[in-house]
Amino acid sequence: MLNLAEQYEQLQTELDEAIHQVLKSGVYINGPKVRAFEESMEKFLGVKHAIGVASGSDALLLSLDALGIGKGDKVIVPALGFYAAAAAVVKLGGIPVLVDVDSHTGNLDLNKAEVALQQDNSIKAIIPIHMYGQACAMDKVMDLAQKYGLKVIEDAGDAINAEVQMGDKTVKAGTIGDTGCFSFHPHKLLGAYGDGGMIVTNDDLLDKKLRILRDHGANPPYIHLLLGYNSRLDALQAALLDVKIKYLQAWTEQQKKAAKKYMDLIDQAEIKEIRYLDFNEGHCFSNFVIQANFRNDLVGYLKFSGIETEVKYPVPLHLQDCFYDLGYEEGAFPAAENLSMSVLALPINPYITDEQIGYVVDKINEFYTERRRLLSISCDLYS
Ligand SMILES: Cc1ncc(COP(=O)(O)O)c(C=O)c1O
Repeated sequence: MLNLAEQYEQLQTELDEAIHQVLKSGVYINGPKVRAFEESMEKFLGVKHAIGVASGSDALLLSLDALGIGKGDKVIVPALGFYAAAAAVVKLGGIPVLVDVDSHTGNLDLNKAEVALQQDNSIKAIIPIHMYGQACAMDKVMDLAQKYGLKVIEDAGDAINAEVQMGDKTVKAGTIGDTGCFSFHPHKLLGAYGDGGMIVTNDDLLDKKLRILRDHGANPPYIHLLLGYNSRLDALQAALLDVKIKYLQAWTEQQKKAAKKYMDLIDQAEIKEIRYLDFNEGHCFSNFVIQANFRNDLVGYLKFSGIETEVKYPVPLHLQDCFYDLGYEEGAFPAAENLSMSVLALPINPYITDEQIGYVVDKINEFYTERRRLLSISCDLYS
């Protein structure tokens, strides 16, 4: 999807310089480089506090822990999305209350979330996952949070630089709830050279607690106030990310342009077997996801043509083995199940060319044209 080695070559001078500065500094965990990157994120996102942690998964885990989610606590999680949110709840002894997603966006269905809240007044928190780079309707999430007394943990792990409308203001996804969680997995638009993550919050007390929690729960060292984690961001990763964040806005614009090119070409080709999800203005297009008939055959055809795609996500959470004990059955969340059978992420990255997008669309068109031709031959044979 994104040729990381190629990207490194483009940024090599700046990245190499950043590495040498860290190596020469003698500070490799936390320290000034981590703080500098946290400040860059605070500024970029327009949020009061950014706390570097070891991964996006840890950002979710530490957030829930800091907000007091523990044994037996129920948390709403969408039935389709990356597994880390539901896993974090279970790891803390909590219970994910899975809710179906909106079939048009893949984001949490907030009407169904409200039904779940009406049926069970013991639910403590909600984790909207901003799917594929498009933020959940956070104004509605915050209304629900206020009405039902919920903590809100935004999973913006795949949605850095997505924007969302809050009243008359446009704000960055991840900055509205009690905490927002980001991943710097190398494949993300702002990707590290290893693992990394970040929690953002506007709450001063939560900020203090999270900084202690990430460092073995200690403050000062060896005085353990909380049962914490070893979940710190390496200075090397922070320094490299601080180089890359300068390009994030330009990269986002390029991803948006690429998404538009895909849509123009798919529309021109009039491929009836493909549908789009509902895209809004704030979508950062970290992924360009279509719904495709005969999806698995199409994946094979594209692979044969040298085109890498990704199915996000092939199995909804309630049907994953690791969540078997939650007791959900097949059919429980139809929108999540239908999407899992049809969604396909096409190649997108800030460097993709119009020619490459054209090649992908040509191959998709070729696949369906050939399929239709074969179908008409077999119809003729049997008629
Ligand atoms: C939406 C979402 N949340 C959380 C994560 C977990 O992030 P990490 O891989 O950094 O632990 C990911 C990772 O892909 C993700 O896509």
